[in-house]
Amino acid sequence: MLEVLWNLPEQCEEAWQRGMAAALGSLPEVCGSGEGVAQVMVTGLGGSAIGGDLLRVYAQEEASIPFAVNRDYLLPAYVGPRTLVFAVSYSGNTEETLSAYDDARRRGAKIVALTSGGRLAEKAAADGFPVILVPGGISPRSASGYLFLPMIAVLQRLGILADASAQVEEACALLRRMRENLGPSCPEEENLSKQLARKFYQRLPVIYGTSGTTETVAVRWKGQINENSKAMAYYNVFPELNHNEIVGTEKPDPLLQRLELVFLVDSADHPRVQARRQITQELIGERVGGISWVEAQGTSRLARIYSLIYVGDYASVYLALLYGIDPTPVRLIDRLKQRLSEAR
Ligand code: PA5
Repeated sequence: MLEVLWNLPEQCEEAWQRGMAAALGSLPEVCGSGEGVAQVMVTGLGGSAIGGDLLRVYAQEEASIPFAVNRDYLLPAYVGPRTLVFAVSYSGNTEETLSAYDDARRRGAKIVALTSGGRLAEKAAADGFPVILVPGGISPRSASGYLFLPMIAVLQRLGILADASAQVEEACALLRRMRENLGPSCPEEENLSKQLARKFYQRLPVIYGTSGTTETVAVRWKGQINENSKAMAYYNVFPELNHNEIVGTEKPDPLLQRLELVFLVDSADHPRVQARRQITQELIGERVGGISWVEAQGTSRLARIYSLIYVGDYASVYLALLYGIDPTPVRLIDRLKQRLSEAR
């Protein structure tokens, strides 16, 4: 896992190239410079769905059509011939995604499959839809570059999103610099991810992002702590949490002191959210175990998103190591999938 994480910048570069070079068949013509597409839907689960959430937030600033993510067997009723569906499954064998793919095909949607192989690649190829193949052999959650950037490349080629190549370049250069300070050879005194892991150890990490900027990064941190560290974690977003969760910081006392909060900060957050974070810290700081602020680095949207993902990914692996756990296997997911396949 540490090696795969170290290679994230190279993975992102390769993922981008794959998306730019992928054969799209007649898709550009049927999309007619994006005009034939009324909405974009990403369907997937777990590590294969988070790229869809990242895409949704990324696209929000510029796209003139809505983006949504589906994590279910069936798609919403509005999906039809004018929907571009990315069916994303790293293994290519996740039953919900295969079922949603079939649903998209039945409704005449435009489909692109993003996978390392499996049944999804077979089905999409047989049905004549574009298949973007990414390398297999790593865990889906550590393939975040492969399962996100090719979709931006395709959407750019279809005229739905603007050229993102400069953003990809900035993100990769930034990640290369960041890994020197986040990687295993950098000592804890200078390593933000190791410091966060130490704070999370034997506590319940609670990650607060912000709607429209870091909301998916907060989900990502939670998921990475769950899957890599095999530990419970929780997330929420500003400003919504100021309207409910903040009130829940009164009980139960023994639990509150074991909460370790992280506020994710992005330069594009609404100025009032900055004020909300500050006031929230003043109101609840004494009640919880601790609050850390982690700021996005970089200029472009993509660089800022990935800078925060990188800090959280490394922190989740270091937390696994503090617990004496191998971050890679996800035995409970594997057992659940096995039991489900036997229960047909
Ligand atoms: O990280 C994981 O292993 C899971 O969250 C998987 O991504 C999830 O179970 C879906 O599998 P796949 O990505 O192969 O479609």
